[in-house]
Amino acid sequence: MALWSGRFEGGVGEFTQEFGASLFVDKEMYAQDIAGSQAHASMLAAQGVISTDDANAIHEGLEAIKQSIDDGSFVFDVNDEDIHMAIEAELTRVIGTPGARLHTGRSRNDQVAVDLRLHAKALLEDLLEQNVSLCEVLLKKAEDTFGVIMPGYTHLQHAQPVLFSHYMLAYFWMFTRDYVRLKHAYEAADANPLGSAALAGTTYPLDRFMTTELLGFDHAIPNSLDAVSDRDYLLDLEYACSVAMMHLSRLCEEIILWSSTEFGFITLSDAFSTGSSIMPQKKNPDFAELTRGKMGRVVGDLVALLVTMKSLPLAYNKDLQECKEGAFDAAKTLHDCMYCVAGMVDTMELHEEAMLVSAKKGFTAATDVADYLAKKGMPFREAHEVVGNLVLYCEKNGKELEELSFEELHDVCPLFEKDVVSALDTEAIVAARTTYGGTGHSAVKLQMKEAHEFLASM
Ligand code: ARG
Repeated sequence: MALWSGRFEGGVGEFTQEFGASLFVDKEMYAQDIAGSQAHASMLAAQGVISTDDANAIHEGLEAIKQSIDDGSFVFDVNDEDIHMAIEAELTRVIGTPGARLHTGRSRNDQVAVDLRLHAKALLEDLLEQNVSLCEVLLKKAEDTFGVIMPGYTHLQHAQPVLFSHYMLAYFWMFTRDYVRLKHAYEAADANPLGSAALAGTTYPLDRFMTTELLGFDHAIPNSLDAVSDRDYLLDLEYACSVAMMHLSRLCEEIILWSSTEFGFITLSDAFSTGSSIMPQKKNPDFAELTRGKMGRVVGDLVALLVTMKSLPLAYNKDLQECKEGAFDAAKTLHDCMYCVAGMVDTMELHEEAMLVSAKKGFTAATDVADYLAKKGMPFREAHEVVGNLVLYCEKNGKELEELSFEELHDVCPLFEKDVVSALDTEAIVAARTTYGGTGHSAVKLQMKEAHEFLASM
């Protein structure tokens, strides 16, 4: 019989019982549910609402239930509807009357809110930790491969050569912004709704500040209606997960391209590749693809929650039960994808020669040759035109810019002198970009120092 069966004459149908249950989703929060109940019981005793003996019996009973869920011996029954009633019903079966006093001054509405906030905090702590690992891997890769040159792109066309380290650090900074967003979601979750009861507070002398302290929340939520109906922190979590997945999908897309025969920049380790059931030669970047693909489900989780929340009147509505699954899914998906991508980047092998050869192709020195003329006094727009014509000449004659003889260059523009070779040298082109944030070796060294400082602050 349900814990709320008093005013009912008939029972819920078998189908609706299952349909209305959230047990198989929210049982993931059993540890939080028990922690919330223990804090509530301690506070009830401290306020003289229940006896210390009752509170002690509740504590011990809940500890035993936690053990049995931990070791898998607890039997979940869908008729209990959710984790809150499953645990409370079992507690009362085992310890009797004290168990039946636990729900004094409490509702499942503040209970589910407190469980969810505690669980969101735990999920976000894991995500923050995994995000730091990913950032560490990117920075280490940048350091280990310092000096490797690759083509930089705009429009996916060769633009200018850059250091591979610079590329890795671009992703490093991108992922540090995810850290900030995840941290914000954590702070949004870090507030205590317990003691709001069903929606309006309660007539018992509850000390909400005591449970805030016991449960490690930053503060108590100041409005009971808001406390039981707010799920913004889950939106923050899912938004942070969505943006982070979007970032991972960008890096994965590059990994997929770089490992193709056309690029040939990297080989993924066997641990992050799979074969084909028919084509014996295949080595596929499955996990990069899967991560790219899973971005869709996480954004789906975010959109689903936004739509669930739309137009919901205050305070608790059963719609809110739908908030959990997507949030858990988004957190797990991001966690696993960050783990995968960190492993992939850490273990991938670079083909430095192929990257350098590619970096020279596509007239990637053209900007520097135009800059060379501009530095000799020619207005940049004119220099741009001159070099544009040189590129056209090269294309028609099947040559690269650095294959042009000094005479060919000099014929086009007498400002070209012997020192033009440095404007055509890929390594020198990269090294010369010393502006703050640029790809020059010295600028990237400084960037690495700043990256270390940021990591230390995370
Ligand atoms: N199973 C519900 C949920 O997950 C718990 C709160 C239900 N409260 C209620 N009065 N129906 O949201």
